[in-house]
Amino acid sequence: MDRRYWISLCLLQWLANCVGSSPLSSAIHTSSKVGLSVVLPCAVTSHLDHPPHIQWQTVQDSVFERMGEEQFQGEAYKHRADVPEAILVQGNCSLFLQDVRFSDAGIYKSYLVVDESSFQNRIFIQSVHLSVVDHKSTKYVETGKDLTLDLYTNQAQLVIFQNSNDTAWAVVWERDGDKNNKCHLSNNKLTFKSVTASSAGMYKVLDSEGLALSTVKVLITEPVLLRESQVLERKTLLGKATMSTPFLKIIITFLTFHLVLPFN
Ligand SMILES: *[C@@H]1O[C@H](CO)[C@@H](O)[C@H](O)[C@H]1NC(C)=O
Ligand SMILES: *[C@@H]1O[C@H](CO)[C@@H](O)[C@H](O)[C@H]1NC(C)=O
Repeated sequence: MDRRYWISLCLLQWLANCVGSSPLSSAIHTSSKVGLSVVLPCAVTSHLDHPPHIQWQTVQDSVFERMGEEQFQGEAYKHRADVPEAILVQGNCSLFLQDVRFSDAGIYKSYLVVDESSFQNRIFIQSVHLSVVDHKSTKYVETGKDLTLDLYTNQAQLVIFQNSNDTAWAVVWERDGDKNNKCHLSNNKLTFKSVTASSAGMYKVLDSEGLALSTVKVLITEPVLLRESQVLERKTLLGKATMSTPFLKIIITFLTFHLVLPFN
């Protein structure tokens, strides 16, 4: 009796596990930081035609489609989306998306298009929920050193700055702007030369819609490393000195004792 209950409990548990891990019931969640690349996972094992015909779509848009060498990229995904042919023939239908934008966030669905003798049939494979987040970081820069800000992507249009003591924002860099002489752009990185205390504050990299791609809190530090090590050195010297004093005292006491004793 007990054993039978136990067995049915086990069976229920096993069933629950099966349903939970079923690929059909799970929409995959994936997150990417804006401006980077992301892979939306997808795999097919059956119904693989040669060459396979794959489609990726959002609710409102066609994202990407491939059949052999033929491919189609949706308008919003031009030069950014791909399902590489070499891995697709092996059943890996993952969507490679480059230079991710905030507007890419949403639900993506992949389908396999199969040719039944007289009509095409579409088989749903995978649903992926993509969220896109901004970059956030804190940087410590020593006075006199260079500050480098990563723009991450060509979507970056503007960098604004708020001094630690101020509430107002000022433009410090503008793509195609003419007053960018305070910084230097190379490989999507901005360099500000020899910073001073007044460079401390918040830097925001904005896209063309004014959305923050990245927020960097910059703290300017004094070149303390050298001084700290000097202080440390002095302390250890001092430590040695104080350490040796009682020892010296003991020796002196010992010597005085032994020297004095015979005379008593
Ligand atoms: C498909 O390819 C991507 C990129 O190489 C890889 O990350 C992923 O694990 C592959 N998926 C499968 C099911 O092999
Ligand atoms: C903020 O103000 C204080 C005192 O008014 C000044 O010492 C400090 O250098 C200022 N900081 C910045 C980042 O300008």
